[in-house]
Amino acid sequence: MSKLLVLRLCFVLIASSSLFHVGTSITHKSQDGSEEWGYVQVRPKAHMFWWLYRSPSRVDAGSKPWPTILWLQGGPGGSGTGFGNFLEIGPLNLNLKPRNSTWLQKAHLLFVDNPVGTGYSYVESGGEFVKGDVEAAIDMTTLLTEVSNDIVGLRNATLYIFAESYGGKFAVTLALSLLQAIQAGNLTLNLRGVALGNSSGSYLLNLSKERTVLLCGNEKHTKGFTKSHENLHFYWILDAGHFVPVDQPCVTLNMVDAITESPAS
Ligand SMILES: *[C@@H]1O[C@H](CO)[C@@H](O)[C@H](O)[C@H]1NC(C)=O
Ligand SMILES: *[C@@H]1O[C@H](CO)[C@@H](O)[C@H](O)[C@H]1NC(C)=O
Ligand SMILES: *[C@@H]1O[C@H](CO)[C@@H](O)[C@H](O)[C@H]1NC(C)=O
Ligand SMILES: *[C@@H]1O[C@H](CO)[C@@H](O)[C@H](O)[C@H]1NC(C)=O
Ligand SMILES: *[C@@H]1O[C@H](CO)[C@@H](O)[C@H](O)[C@H]1NC(C)=O
Repeated sequence: MSKLLVLRLCFVLIASSSLFHVGTSITHKSQDGSEEWGYVQVRPKAHMFWWLYRSPSRVDAGSKPWPTILWLQGGPGGSGTGFGNFLEIGPLNLNLKPRNSTWLQKAHLLFVDNPVGTGYSYVESGGEFVKGDVEAAIDMTTLLTEVSNDIVGLRNATLYIFAESYGGKFAVTLALSLLQAIQAGNLTLNLRGVALGNSSGSYLLNLSKERTVLLCGNEKHTKGFTKSHENLHFYWILDAGHFVPVDQPCVTLNMVDAITESPAS
């Protein structure tokens, strides 16, 4: 079944490459509606690929809406629909076997190959590549505007951007661009938060004092520390390399649950 989907996906990619008009999108859906994927032409000759997984764990819990996570890979040039999806947090691993630590337990997951030129996102001529983070953010804003218009349920979604490595720079630039588009009335999304994982940047919190110890499951040893100041939350996960969700799946899932205030049990 999953293999079939991947094959269908490849077919769609090949079949649809030159059918676009500017600003239009093409969307496909799995039979049960749990997955949607497609392209948005974000500028003339510049096409971005996205892939949405709806969570089978979704519960409606009154004031706590079910969150959607937009995952941004680093690099720049790392494919989110590839690395983040199959290596880190998506429902299937590289062998297309279920991943028991998938973040789908806590949220819907939206992967995008960002910026154009990454993964399945492509340009028709070299002049269409982005030249910086701000241009990348504008393309992503166009993509999210199209996708949230097209995809039932994503409009007004409570969105969290999670980013790894260089993706942290994209995430912050994108969040500002999205807020401007939302304020201008160009986009209805409920942007709730940005999470930067092992990101480039500098950190001022001193985690040596007044920190909360993170434990997980039945294990007694410390998995990490967290400290908050108002709505800024800092997590320090121990014994983890660059792919934190892979190295420490249990405590990472708890972190995602806390950040997104997921109603998942
Ligand atoms: C998830 O898989 C890992 C090994 O891949 C295993 O150690 C762990 O117990 C599993 N967790 C659950 C909840 O099944
Ligand atoms: C989105 O929110 C706006 C304002 O709260 C509301 O008018 C609109 O009906 C909502 N749209 C959807 C699709 O839920
Ligand atoms: C909102 O959309 C209008 C019309 O497409 C565009 O001119 C304007 O630049 C957009 N503003 C923002 C902040 O996205
Ligand atoms: C952090 O706090 C500890 C304990 O109070 C202190 O020893 C250390 O010097 C502080 N580090 C920095 C960088 O301020
Ligand atoms: C990122 O992870 C590496 C280990 O892979 C670690 O050495 C480094 O301190 C981390 N940086 C940040 C900002 O989290």
